[in-house]
Amino acid sequence: LRLLTPDQSLSGRHVLVTAGPTVEPLDPVRFLSNHSSGRQGYAIAAALAKRGATVTLVSGPVSIPVPEGVRRIPVQTAREMLAACEAALPADVVICTAAVSDWRAKDIASGKIKKTGGGPPTLELVENPDILATLCRSPQRPRLVVGFAAETDDVLQNAQAKRLRKGCDWLVANDVRHGVFGAMRNTVSLIDDHGLQSWPEMDKTDVAEQLVERIVAFFVNPLS
Ligand code: CTP
Ligand code: CA
Repeated sequence: LRLLTPDQSLSGRHVLVTAGPTVEPLDPVRFLSNHSSGRQGYAIAAALAKRGATVTLVSGPVSIPVPEGVRRIPVQTAREMLAACEAALPADVVICTAAVSDWRAKDIASGKIKKTGGGPPTLELVENPDILATLCRSPQRPRLVVGFAAETDDVLQNAQAKRLRKGCDWLVANDVRHGVFGAMRNTVSLIDDHGLQSWPEMDKTDVAEQLVERIVAFFVNPLS
């Protein structure tokens, strides 16, 4: 047990974290998803709970355990994730680490799609809601909104533009060209109102600790 002085504690703060992939069914046996392991989001949830925050973790399917002291709400699809997040408001902070599937099938086949001999089926996709952007525009917008951006090209330029487009306060950009998915380590840059700060490569648990340090500091002095 660590004893925290009031300034270092997030006690009394509710933090909402999204994590993992979303899974979008095509038919009863197939789905559209991605490689997200949930590791970075779960590490952040764990670090927040250690600091005394009340943590709601809205998570797609992952194979890692729920961190101690964290309330997890399991979801499958992007629309379920959004509904669970909205139901969890109000929150002081939201941190969107989830790799939300950008698209889903326009219609989910009620039976297994079969080969017909007439060539492969055409999948018609529609765009999923943007959870981060929706929470930013919500009348119950949390005071601090943090997004993540996985990029493979022009990482920092794309990330700067993404922060403004989505309307979040902080954006953590990571370069996913070199196998971040499922890995233990991560190299990120944090973009806020003041500009950009690049962090050295470190364990995802250390990225989580550093981010939580910044959140604690934000509540001590929001302008810092
Ligand atoms: N995000 C979200 N809901 C979506 C898509 C993304 O909440 N439907 C969040 C992610 O959790 C992340 C941030 O938005 O915090 C950026 O996600 P990313 O996939 O990098 O951005 P997109 O806007 O989807 O742009 P693209 O995939 O085209 O780069
Ligand atoms: Ca995306």
